[in-house]
Amino acid sequence: MSDIVEAPLISAFDVKKDYETPVGVLEILRSVQLIIRKGEMVFITGKSGSGKSTLLHLLGGLDRPSQGKIHFEGRDMTEMSEKELARIRSRHIGFVFQFYHLLPELTVYENVLLPTLIAGKSNRTWVKEVLKRVRLWNRRTHFPSELSGGEQQRVAIARALVNHPAVVLCDEPTGNLDSENAASVMALINELNTQEGQAFLIVTHDEEMAGRYDRTYRLHEGVLMPGQRPVLRPETIISPKQIL
Ligand SMILES: Nc1ncnc2c1ncn2[C@@H]1O[C@H](COP(=O)(O)OP(=O)(O)OP(=O)(O)O)[C@@H](O)[C@H]1O
Ligand SMILES: [Mg+2]
Repeated sequence: MSDIVEAPLISAFDVKKDYETPVGVLEILRSVQLIIRKGEMVFITGKSGSGKSTLLHLLGGLDRPSQGKIHFEGRDMTEMSEKELARIRSRHIGFVFQFYHLLPELTVYENVLLPTLIAGKSNRTWVKEVLKRVRLWNRRTHFPSELSGGEQQRVAIARALVNHPAVVLCDEPTGNLDSENAASVMALINELNTQEGQAFLIVTHDEEMAGRYDRTYRLHEGVLMPGQRPVLRPETIISPKQIL
């Protein structure tokens, strides 16, 4: 066993997020601390409206915190320009959105190919491989509207993986699926985590599923709490000195 601790891929330190609304300021995240390292599987559960999607969007550089720092591989994302953020997202971070966000006018194949074109590293052999991995190669010419929810979710996973991201952020990847499809999507995520060593951060309502994994947190009143199993291993607690 190696004692070497991987450098963090994503670190969040004292992250706050408020939304200004006509009826006042909504304080959604009060103080979130989190480290995600290479190859880890981390789960976040929490009630509807607790801020899970908000947090995922912040960690992936789709939105900016009101206060606090988020680093990607040691670089402060909160200080980056939109262009730099877009580059990091495109090359290093995969997203599986809560409601898939597939482009309806593109086929399965085109939906998965598109991020490779945006990143300027189109590789059709790998697009084929990744579609085979999610068992949808034979549906490549179909449009999203012609697929089941589980199949659309698998396309969304293929699209998230196609640029070989170091970390994949999944927002309720099984939330809209029946138990059989949910199990198959989770089996696929486990397989990719083991075979490709990609880190996954998975937001889910399903506490039972999350409870089967080591690192599970619950987002409650704007703070990440230990989930059903002990998760706050010493290396997951970070001090300002490590970040600032
Ligand atoms: N742009 C916004 N402006 C104002 N309030 C917002 C905005 N985005 C989200 N919120 C509010 O922030 C809170 C957290 O939303 P979020 O979508 O992160 O919750 P969630 O935990 O993902 O919920 P769910 O489990 O239902 O997906 C909600 O009360 C939501 O209404
Ligand atoms: Mg959500």
